[in-house]
Amino acid sequence: MPAARLVLDANQRPTLSTARLRLGVPALSDTAAILAIAGDPRTVEHNPSDLVADLLEAEELVGRWVQHWDDRGFGYWCVREVGSATVVGYCGLKSMHAQGQPVLNLIYRLIPAVWGRGYATEAAQAVVSWAGTAQPKATILARVRPDNEASRRVALKAGLRPDPALDENGQDGPDLAFSNRGDPRHTGG
Ligand SMILES: CC(C)(COP(=O)(O)OP(=O)(O)OC[C@H]1O[C@@H](n2cnc3c(N)ncnc32)[C@H](O)[C@@H]1OP(=O)(O)O)[C@@H](O)C(=O)NCCC(=O)NCCS
Repeated sequence: MPAARLVLDANQRPTLSTARLRLGVPALSDTAAILAIAGDPRTVEHNPSDLVADLLEAEELVGRWVQHWDDRGFGYWCVREVGSATVVGYCGLKSMHAQGQPVLNLIYRLIPAVWGRGYATEAAQAVVSWAGTAQPKATILARVRPDNEASRRVALKAGLRPDPALDENGQDGPDLAFSNRGDPRHTGG
């Protein structure tokens, strides 16, 4: 998996650079861009409970992401194309539990205009690669809705494999678990 280049931003937080993308830690100034992504019904087709209704909800969501970074030192990144200031998506890790086990939930969501270019794969690989160094004991988990083939492909190409023991019923129905627990580099429990 290609490693991303890591540069610390002004707040000593990691910025990840890939061949075509830059992943930066979100700020409240990204709120409108996040609403444009998560407020678009196409991006939540498989996860309708993730729909963000308005600017206030988006601001609360980004506020929670910033808080997660403050609390845990990692979280979601805003994804931009190299050389562009426009946020085209978000990708990253959220601390949660699955089947009672602590996991880092991997998420990726991009505006439809950039789908099909391999960006989600590139961003997810950068995040999983970063976690392999920064959170080496962590279980990385992608929860994939059964009919979300693009999401399943991205999880696989990020190095995760089906882990049915962590399958769960999520807010929008069954979620299939893909994790790094079978990876020999995974040193966690
Ligand atoms: C899932 C998502 C992030 C994929 O983004 P993307 O940048 O288009 O993905 P990639 O270009 O990296 O493609 C990854 C793989 O999915 C496949 N794929 C992409 N869109 C697809 C579709 N609609 N149906 C089937 N396969 C698809 C690609 O062909 C590629 O497969 P390959 O490796 O076998 O060639 C994007 O579709 C999205 O934002 N969806 C809404 C949010 C979402 O469902 N996120 C996941 C759960 S939170």
